[in-house]
Parts: sequence; C-alpha cells; structure tokens
Amino acid sequence: MKLSATTLTASLLVSVIAILLAIPMMLQWERPPMDSTQLGFRGLGMEQITNPRLAEKLKAANPLPTPDDPVPDDGVLVKNDHENYKNVQVLGDLDTAQFNRLMGAITVWVAPQDGDNASCAYCHNIENMASDEKYTKVVARRMLQMTRAINTQHKSHVAETGVTCYTCHRGQPVPANVWSTNPGPKQAGGFAASRDGQNVAGQSVPAYASLPYDPFTTLLKPDARIRVVATTALPEGTGADVKATEKTYALMMHMSSALGVNCTFCHNTRQFASWQQSRPQRVTAWHGIQMVRDIDTNYLGSLTDVFPANRKGPEGDVYKVNCATCHHGVNKPLYGFSMAKSYPELSVPNP
Ligand code: HEC
Ligand code: HEC
Ligand code: HEC
Ligand code: HEC
Repeated sequence: MKLSATTLTASLLVSVIAILLAIPMMLQWERPPMDSTQLGFRGLGMEQITNPRLAEKLKAANPLPTPDDPVPDDGVLVKNDHENYKNVQVLGDLDTAQFNRLMGAITVWVAPQDGDNASCAYCHNIENMASDEKYTKVVARRMLQMTRAINTQHKSHVAETGVTCYTCHRGQPVPANVWSTNPGPKQAGGFAASRDGQNVAGQSVPAYASLPYDPFTTLLKPDARIRVVATTALPEGTGADVKATEKTYALMMHMSSALGVNCTFCHNTRQFASWQQSRPQRVTAWHGIQMVRDIDTNYLGSLTDVFPANRKGPEGDVYKVNCATCHHGVNKPLYGFSMAKSYPELSVPNP
C-alpha cells in the first residue's frame, strides 16, 4: 500500500493528539512508591495505604490556625451589663472581655475575608448591635448552641479535642464540604425515565462510582438503617436488598474519602459487619454518624425558615454537614489540633 503524504500527516496528527490527551489522564494516576502502615493483626491485610506526595498537599490544604492570645477578665458578666448587652441569649454567662474576644474570633472564622461584609457588619447592624435583623446573626446564635452541643454531648466522638466554628467554616460563610438533597440530573423519557438515584457519575460519592449519588438524605436521617448484612440464613431476617446495600456502600465510600483512609481503617474486610473484628475507630465512626444526624436534624434543619433561598439546595433544604465538613480528608480534623481548648466558652452546656 502506498501512503500518500496527506494520510501520513493525518495519522501523525492523530498520534500526537492521542499522546496529548493521554498526558492529563496519566497526571491523575498516583505514582508509586506508596507508603503502607499496618493497622491490624499480621496477615489480615488491614493496612493504610498512603501516597507521601499527596500527604504533603493535604497538609498544605489543612493549615493549623493560631488561636487568639488569652485576655484577662473585665470582672463584669455580660448578663449584668444591661447598658451594652441588651439581647444576649446564649453567651450571657461570659465575662465581657471573653465575649469580645469571641466576637473577634468568629468574625475571622466565619465572615467573608474581603468586601464590605468582612467585619462585625456581616452579622450586625452596626448602628444597633442588639438587633436580630440580619439572618446571619440568628444563624450564628444557633451555631453557638450547636458547637456547645457537639463539645459537651458528643464527646464520644470529638473527645477532648472538640470543635470550634473554624473546624467547619475555615474562614468562609458556607463551609466547603456540605450536602443537600440531590435529585440528580433531569431524566430522559421511556426506559431511562428513572435512574433510581444512581448510575450517574456523582461527586458526593468519590471516584465517580455508579453508586447512589445521594446516600445522605436516606441514611443520615435519625434511626435510618445502615447495616445490610443478613444475620440469618433466610432473607426475612435482617438482610437488605441490593439497592439498600449500594446506598450503604456509597456512604462508606464517602466516609473513607472524607477521612482519607481505606475501609480497613475501621473494618476487617473479611467480615464488614463484625464489631468484634473491627478497629475501635469504627465505634468512634458510629458515634460520628449519630452526631451528624443530631447536627443536621436539630440544628441545621431547625434553620430552614431562617436561611434565604440562595443558601439552600435545589430541593429547598439547607446545606448540611457530613463527615467531610469537619474532617477535610484527614482522620482527625486539623490533625487532632484542639482549637476548642483556647475557647473554653464553646465547651460548656447551653443555658
Ligand atoms: C458570625 C456572626 C457574628 C459576627 C461576625 C459578629 N457577631 Fe456579635 N453577635 C453575634 C451573635 C449571634 C450575638 C448574640 C449572642 C447571644 O445571643 O448569646 C452577638 C452579640 C453581640 C453583642 C451584644 C449586642 C447586644 O446588645 O445584645 C455585641 C456587643 C457584639 N455582638 C459585638 C460584635 C463585634 C464588636 C463584632 C466584630 C468584631 C461582632 N460582634 C461580630 C454574632 C456575630
Ligand atoms: C459542624 C459544622 C459547623 C460548625 C461547627 C459551625 N457551623 Fe456555621 N454553618 C455550617 C453549615 C453546614 C452552614 C451552611 C448552611 C446553609 O448555607 O444552608 C453554616 C452556616 C453558617 C452561617 C450562615 C452563613 C451565610 O452566609 O449564610 C453563619 C453565620 C454561621 N454558620 C456561623 C457559625 C458560627 C458563629 C459557628 C461557631 C459558633 C459555626 N457557624 C459553627 C456548619 C457549621
Ligand atoms: C471510619 C470508619 C469506617 C470506614 C472507613 C468504613 N466503614 Fe463501613 N461501617 C462503619 C460503621 C460505623 C458501620 C456501622 C453503621 C451502623 O451500624 O449504623 C459500617 C457498616 C458497614 C457495612 C454494613 C455492615 C452490616 O452490619 O451490615 C458495610 C458492608 C461496610 N461498612 C462496608 C464498608 C466499605 C466497603 C468501606 C470502604 C469503602 C467501609 N465500610 C469503610 C465504619 C466505617
Ligand atoms: C463536628 C465535626 C466532626 C464531624 C462532622 C465528624 N467528625 Fe469525626 N472527628 C471529629 C474530631 C474533632 C475528632 C478527633 C477526636 C479525638 O481527638 O480523638 C474526630 C475523630 C474521628 C475518628 C477517629 C480517628 C482516629 O484516628 O482515631 C473517626 C473514625 C471519625 N472521626 C469518623 C467520622 C465519621 C465517619 C464522620 C461522619 C459520619 C465524622 N467523623 C464526622 C470531628 C468530626
């Protein structure tokens, strides 16, 4: 066969394009060598596989903040200074010096970093600090109660490390990792009329697996059943169908990626259901699921009528918390650094 100059140029062009297209794909791969840490008994394959190069990037994406210096008390409680504090419903037991230090801190943690709103004015009418006219202030008051509830009622998860507004917000009004009910892309007609909430690449479940893309709405409801493995021989027992099982796997994929760990960080994968063979971290995770349900239902859910429409998802529900909201790809948020220790007023029970 005789190759004409045009065919030759065309095939050369095709090869060059193919190589150019392959380069970005290869950049997505993780280059060896990887590190591995043994987590379970020998021979079980319970190992944590990490990429030392990505670990550096993760560290850079999770900077440790410097807490404000402590300030001496003024000797006056907020609730006794009726002149300057007219509408304080949660923080009344604070010394006024500590109150002002906290207001400064939450401005840095939550208010936008630039523009007109990068100040007390993000939550306050500066002419009348006691006014609740800005929704952000009403939300912030509930968030104060929520943070205290996390640090006092959910110690089985957050331990003495605790959280502050920064753990979720990191200097942004809306935390980077949140979820809302996801109806998925618009359906075609006919056989494709229902995708049953899956089989479309979804970002909430990592790796763009064709698993259900919104496991949160169902499984983060209080009392929802995550366990799927049957404990009896017959299906009437406790086993779940394939669909429910896929949802559980989708949630598990989220949990793994949110913490930057493999399944074996919690499970002995020869028996996912067995608590006896699991690591203690699985128990911490179980308490985490209960905590997230409490946060989403009793705190964020309770603010549905307070948030404006542009702060809600396409289905009209507020943005809510999942494991990634605090963890940001790390097994302990901020690598276990306790900012809450420097703000003890966030770790007392609500009045
Ligand atoms: C993220 C929202 C937010 C930001 C930003 C914020 N505050 Fe507040 N502020 C609140 C909330 C919520 C309350 C009410 C607390 C309560 O009810 O216990 C409050 C109450 C107050 C009060 C008491 C007013 C009264 O008479 O009841 C003062 C004073 C105050 N803040 C000062 C400041 C100052 C100064 C700044 C800026 C350095 C600031 N705040 C930034 C949310 C915020
Ligand atoms: C467990 C995670 C978490 C913690 C801790 C937390 N927040 Fe939030 N906060 C959220 C989520 C999620 C939203 C977004 C809700 C939405 O937009 O529908 C939010 C929204 C807000 C908003 C509204 C922002 C806007 O522009 O609409 C304010 C104000 C706020 N939080 C203040 C605080 C303060 C103050 C604290 C600490 C006392 C705090 N938050 C602690 C998760 C958290
Ligand atoms: C951070 C800890 C953690 C990680 C990581 C994790 N799981 Fe889980 N897994 C749990 C907890 C906790 C439960 C039980 C939830 C409950 O009882 O409500 C569970 C339950 C399960 C179940 C149901 C077991 C039963 O009793 O029916 C399966 C299956 C499962 N996980 C698979 C996986 C897979 C696959 C991965 C990796 C993609 C994974 N898990 C990663 C903590 C974890
Ligand atoms: C409100 C913030 C917050 C949320 C949301 C959250 N966690 Fe945590 N988690 C923490 C803190 C803080 C710690 C560190 C506790 C400590 O120091 O022992 C922690 C620790 C853990 C640990 C122990 C890690 C280890 O190395 O021992 C596991 C496992 C875990 N979380 C799983 C989860 C899972 C799964 C979810 C979602 C269902 C979740 N967390 C949601 C704050 C959070």
